[in-house]
Amino acid sequence: MALKSTNPTKTESWSKLQSHFNSIKDKHLKDLFSGNPNRANQLTIEWEDFLVDFSKNRIATETIDYLIELANEVDLKDAIKKYFQGDIINATEGRAVLHTALRTKQDSKVLVNGENVVPGIFAVKQKIKDFTEAVINGTHKGYTGKAITDIVNIGIGGSDLGPAMVVDSLQFYKNHLTTHFVSNVDGDHHKEIIKNLNPETTLFVIVSKTFTTQETLSNANSIRAWFLEALPTEAVSKHFVAVSTNIGSVKAFGIDENNIFPMKDWVGGRFSLWSSVGLSISLALGYQNFEDLLKGAQKMDEHFRATDFKKNIPVIAALLTVWYNNFFKAESEAIIPYTQYLNQFATYLQQGIMESNGKSVDRSGKRVDYQTGTLIWGEPGTNSQHAFFQLIHQGTKLIPTDFIGFVKSLHGNTEHHDKLMSNYFAQTEALMNGKTEDEVLAELNSQGLDETEINKLLPFKIFEGNKPTTSVLINKLTPESLGKLIAMYEHKIFVEGIIWNIYSYDQFGVELGKQLAKTILNELDDSSVKHNHDASTQHLIDFYRKNK
Ligand code: F6P
Repeated sequence: MALKSTNPTKTESWSKLQSHFNSIKDKHLKDLFSGNPNRANQLTIEWEDFLVDFSKNRIATETIDYLIELANEVDLKDAIKKYFQGDIINATEGRAVLHTALRTKQDSKVLVNGENVVPGIFAVKQKIKDFTEAVINGTHKGYTGKAITDIVNIGIGGSDLGPAMVVDSLQFYKNHLTTHFVSNVDGDHHKEIIKNLNPETTLFVIVSKTFTTQETLSNANSIRAWFLEALPTEAVSKHFVAVSTNIGSVKAFGIDENNIFPMKDWVGGRFSLWSSVGLSISLALGYQNFEDLLKGAQKMDEHFRATDFKKNIPVIAALLTVWYNNFFKAESEAIIPYTQYLNQFATYLQQGIMESNGKSVDRSGKRVDYQTGTLIWGEPGTNSQHAFFQLIHQGTKLIPTDFIGFVKSLHGNTEHHDKLMSNYFAQTEALMNGKTEDEVLAELNSQGLDETEINKLLPFKIFEGNKPTTSVLINKLTPESLGKLIAMYEHKIFVEGIIWNIYSYDQFGVELGKQLAKTILNELDDSSVKHNHDASTQHLIDFYRKNK
């Protein structure tokens, strides 16, 4: 069944939220804490190896109740049921949205058009496992009999960002294979990667759900041409495998049927790392680690599906995004992991969140008259503290920020880890408390400055504080905990989309530019081809053509 369509701003709970917002918008977090000694406890959720502290958000305890009323009024419960049971909730593409089925237990049943898809999922997982193990233990050899040493994932968007982020994030658990990712159609990108590779010991994994994506097919073709300079055509079957829904086009490309790892159209590209798109993850980390990643996501699915909204991590996180986006009019959110391993996490989430919820037409086809998807950005701490934190602390914009940290370091260097985490805790505290005029005065006085100097510096040194943060504290970065974390954001995206009454699982917005690029490409190749462009675009094309 289809998702319901309710304009959230026309609900009763929205009006209540609006008046509640007016009454608390100027309250300082410091006062909210001093007025309620239980606040940290009440607004913290502990689940498995996760602690999520929502208490440093600009909410009163009853704000959550009002937000949950909104969730109930748009029938979030019903939407969650439809999401998990395989209803066609991606209505504009006529598809179910079932990345959750990819990590479900073997004995469960998920019906798509009356067919249980779980046995098929497990057959593909078995194929991933067998192939992965053969490559890792060296029984799958290259054409000249040498073991594989390098894996090159050729894909873009969801066919790159997920595997690349997970492999990088879990590099601590990596095996001897070296993994590379080629995504951009920029020819220098793939050349830089293949220039030091030996075709005899390299496995290329071409990943494209549609197998029509210009970047991926161009890179795959160029890399295959480079490969065939060294080895004969019959070597391709030992060195090229593909992941796709488009089996016909993969075969036409010259990939053996046996070397195709299928996926289904009910897996969205940006949610596909759990499918055979995760083949590079399994190769890089070993199948068991891939399974553990899926297991973590499955646990988060259960938490999301079965937990009361008040204690439901993705639900509360999403409701807070709505709160800031639609009531405080915040435009962006920062995601700051306090581990260098999660260096690519915000980039990965940018696609997940912005491709999903960057929509301006509601589920009944009308233009929305309220804000939807937020801008997502971030970099690991402490590096980001030395880059853009100034703006979060003292700029004019309100930027709700997620802090993600781990209790244990992987290499066990507690001295560094304590320093890292002291920064995490200090930043959330500083963002909340700020520094008052009196505190700045006391500090400047203690530095022995005279009155003129103090008055000159005073306004610049005040931090107003009251900057909202959510602290996610996880025991340790493992495949399982990363699976939970990714799934947490996936469900947050879903809930936001339900509240905003938009379709989160299509991406028509990326099509127009792709179509125009094809037209322009013909003009760059052949100056006799002319299309109608505006004066600016035509001038740029002419300049490029003349000077290339
Ligand atoms: O950028 C648009 C998009 O369709 C993404 O949604 C997708 O992840 C990416 O392109 C790659 O698509 P494909 O896997 O079909 O090559």
